[in-house]
Amino acid sequence: MKSGLLIAFEGIDGTGKSTQIPLLADYLRAKGYEVVETREPTDGPYGRKIRHLYVNRQSSSPKEELELFVQDRRQHVEEVIAPALAEGKIVLTDRYYFSTAAYQGATGMDPKAIFAANDFAPRPDLVLLLVMDPEESVRRIEQLRGEQLNDFEQVEQLRKVAELFATFSDDCILRVNAAASIDRVQAEIQRGVQQLIEKKR
Ligand code: TYD
Repeated sequence: MKSGLLIAFEGIDGTGKSTQIPLLADYLRAKGYEVVETREPTDGPYGRKIRHLYVNRQSSSPKEELELFVQDRRQHVEEVIAPALAEGKIVLTDRYYFSTAAYQGATGMDPKAIFAANDFAPRPDLVLLLVMDPEESVRRIEQLRGEQLNDFEQVEQLRKVAELFATFSDDCILRVNAAASIDRVQAEIQRGVQQLIEKKR
């Protein structure tokens, strides 16, 4: 592949993105592709500020919060995503600008304006949108991970986020039922990615 492929995993918290990404990466590597697994928020300076926000969201305004995610993404694109795509690699990112449109949209910002603020970011070839009821995703976060919800994950908030994700319509989005078993979800993901690869050949 000359220009690589960009595949973004999206969905509310607890839908299993971080389980599914390594499985897809293994599958693609076994087929001989070079794969880069990455995520947002990143571990860079903006990502660290964002993680600090998790525990104390009141410390910044919705606009400042949006700015941080966009700056983090700008750096992520420049330093990780664009170079890997130029080298013909398959990039799997755990969250991308659809998360910003949904999560910061849920804080009252206009999703259209958020998409516009992200127009510097390469359009993904495929968005795997993992879909699940917020009630079920919250149950998984609390029971399986044994975690309390962070400020970005409060149930009411997640319901709004899920509603916004449901409104996005873009040719690159493939919706996957994330409530199915890990194997079933992975099989559906692999089918979608295989179709993409054949289309790009
Ligand atoms: P998450 O994928 O849960 O990261 P980690 O597993 O490393 O904690 O993402 C952290 C939170 O950040 C998640 O609740 C969604 C939120 N988020 C946004 O609000 N906007 C964004 O643009 C992104 C990328 C994430």
